[in-house]
Amino acid sequence: MSFRFPESFLWGGAIAANQVEGSHLSDGKGLSTSDVCPNGAFNEIVERQDGDFNIKDIAIDFYHRYPQDIALFAEMGFSCLRLSIAWSRIFPNGDDEQPNQAGLAYYDKIFDELAKYNITPLVTLSHYEMPYHLAKNYQGWASREVIGFFERYAKTVFSRYGKKVKHWLTFNEINVTLHEPFTGSGLPRDCSEQTRYQAIHHQLVASAKAVKACHELIPDAQIGNMMLGALIYPFTCNPDDVQKAQAQNHDWLFFGDVQARGYYPSYMRRKFAELGVNLDISADDREALKETVDFISFSYYMTGCASADPNQQQQAQGNMLRMIVNPYLESSEWGWQIDPKGLRILLNMLWDRYQKPLFVVENGLGAKDVPNEKGEIEDDYRIDYLSAHIHQIGEAIQDGVDVMGYTSWGPIDLVSASTAQMSKRYGFIYVDRDDDGNGTLERKRKKSFYWYQNFIKSQKKD
Ligand code: BG6
Repeated sequence: MSFRFPESFLWGGAIAANQVEGSHLSDGKGLSTSDVCPNGAFNEIVERQDGDFNIKDIAIDFYHRYPQDIALFAEMGFSCLRLSIAWSRIFPNGDDEQPNQAGLAYYDKIFDELAKYNITPLVTLSHYEMPYHLAKNYQGWASREVIGFFERYAKTVFSRYGKKVKHWLTFNEINVTLHEPFTGSGLPRDCSEQTRYQAIHHQLVASAKAVKACHELIPDAQIGNMMLGALIYPFTCNPDDVQKAQAQNHDWLFFGDVQARGYYPSYMRRKFAELGVNLDISADDREALKETVDFISFSYYMTGCASADPNQQQQAQGNMLRMIVNPYLESSEWGWQIDPKGLRILLNMLWDRYQKPLFVVENGLGAKDVPNEKGEIEDDYRIDYLSAHIHQIGEAIQDGVDVMGYTSWGPIDLVSASTAQMSKRYGFIYVDRDDDGNGTLERKRKKSFYWYQNFIKSQKKD
């Protein structure tokens, strides 16, 4: 690639607490919503009993092995690590008056370790989990009270880590509640549209309040939102398909529109009327929403199509999205449609829309890795996927888009969010653990490890 990325561009990877840490009840941590979904974030809730198995209870044991893992990230040349704080480590029940000191101390150690290697932390406040107590006893985000609990949590971590963490995100894939209300908002899966959008409203207000608190408590920090970038193409140039695709894109852009502009977009009026949704939005809420994010971040794995033709229903898979298959694209082993050029299109679209810096905070290929006879992982498929996507980010930058950085998903193998599998691997670093929890947890560099290391090196000034 002859194009060179800007010197300030942040390179690294992204992980989430519940998919790597394990130690789900250690040092005073409370149960989180993720802890009661042993079969993945989008499957049934199972109340915990003594001796039951949830692969995330140990996950990849990042809780104890972080020094070794961070050293490996540093060896690859990372300038950034996206990670999340488990809210239930800091406030085990969510509604506690005082934070759990042991939980606070744990993340201090992580940030100190990152600082040793000059790796910039990019911290998500809530990544697919909240204290289970809030889901069970408050109806999750359907309750207005949860806004206050989240604000307390956000202020606590901003005050505690403000000197060490200058890049923050509020909610991971905030649009997830549309597809998976329990994982997104702690709501029952069969909740009404009214409940779902009211919960989303509370979350948007909470996000804006966290942005305000961050601006006040850490004036030199930047805080962004995070959306699942679910780009939808019209299946054909029939205006009916084009309109349908536009409406489906509005479904998720709505979140960014509120978080970046500070008010509800007008197209939602019609949507709410059609759904029979009547939101309780107070004057204070409207005021709070005015505090907008500094940058826009998103995950990008796949694209899909929309068709107005009821006979055109061949569905593509995603971990939660159901889209019409695009005949021009190939799919991963899990049916996710691979579309590097779509990333350039999406970056341009978001830049045109928001004129705020963009950050690609998740992208990657979930694949089964089979060691060769020497025990090495030759994951050329992953290298091909990632280099094609990175190339398109470079194209977007040359189109004039302001991109802050790139953190590929799961730089070390971790537990899949949707399926709770270890065998769906994204990493540059292999972790010896299978879907049943067998394995030594030993770490091993894959071929892609050396590829990413060389690539990052090639982007630095000689
Ligand atoms: C994103 C989530 O949707 O996709 C991650 O933010 C998740 O938590 C990633 O792991 C990949 O999905 P999966 O289901 O393959 O783990």
